[in-house]
Amino acid sequence: MEKKDFLYQGKAKCIYKTDDPDVFLVEYRDDATAYNGAKKGTITGKGSLNNQISTYFFELLQNKGIPTHYVEYTGLNEMLVKSLDIIAVEVVVRNIAAGSLARRLGMEEGTVLPGPVVEYYYKSDELGDPLINDDHIKIAGLASKDEMQYIKETALKINDILIQDLNAKNLDLVDYKLEFGRHKSEILLGDEISPDTCRFWDKDTREKLDKDRFRRDMGSVEDAYIEVRRRLTGK
Ligand code: TMP
Repeated sequence: MEKKDFLYQGKAKCIYKTDDPDVFLVEYRDDATAYNGAKKGTITGKGSLNNQISTYFFELLQNKGIPTHYVEYTGLNEMLVKSLDIIAVEVVVRNIAAGSLARRLGMEEGTVLPGPVVEYYYKSDELGDPLINDDHIKIAGLASKDEMQYIKETALKINDILIQDLNAKNLDLVDYKLEFGRHKSEILLGDEISPDTCRFWDKDTREKLDKDRFRRDMGSVEDAYIEVRRRLTGK
C-alpha cells in the first residue's frame, strides 16, 4: 500500500492517506510531550518501540475478538490502520491508584483499587482534557448512550485481557488511556497502546516502566520502553 498525502500531525504520531480511502498509515515519532504539551522532549527510539508494542497489543486484542483499527505492521515506525472518525472521549481505566486519580482523591500512589475504575476525559487540547461524565458526553453530543455502553463494556473486556497477559510478563497494568472511533457502522479501538498511554510497573519491584519516567524526570526512559518490548515480544 502506498503512503500518500500527509493528513494530520498529533503529539507523537503522523497520519498519512494511502491509495485505499478506508486505510491510513500511522507513523510513530520519537517526540514526547507531557502535561498537555507543556513539557516537550525526545525519547530516542520511542517511535519504533511504541509501534512494535502497540502492534503486539492490537494483535492480542484482535485475536481475543476486540475490533480494533489495526490492519498491518509495515515497518519499524509504521502501521496501517482503518480510517476512523475519532470519538472525542478519552477512556481511562485504572486498576491501581496513580497520577491524577491519586491526586484527585488524596490516595497513596500504589493503592490497589477494589475493582477497575473507568473515567472519561473530553479530548480537547484547548480545554486541557477535562474529566467528564455520561451526562456531559450526552449534552455535548460526543457519543450516543448505546455507543458509550459499548465503549465501557469493551474497555472492561480489554482490561481483563491485558491484565491476564501482562501478569504472565510480571507487569502490573496500573492504568491506561483508550480511544475509540467510528468506521462505517462499527466502533473500533483506535490510537495506540504503549508506555506513552499506559502505566506499567514491575510486579515485584514496582519499578515504573512507562512515560512517567519522562514526566517525572526519572531517567532511563528508553531503557524502560525497551524492557516492556522485551517482556512482551521476547525481542
Ligand atoms: P492520569 O493519571 O494522568 O490521568 O493518566 C491516566 C492514564 O492515562 C495514564 O496511563 C496515562 C494516560 N494518559 C494518556 O495517555 N494521555 C493523556 O493525555 C493523559 C492525561 C493520560
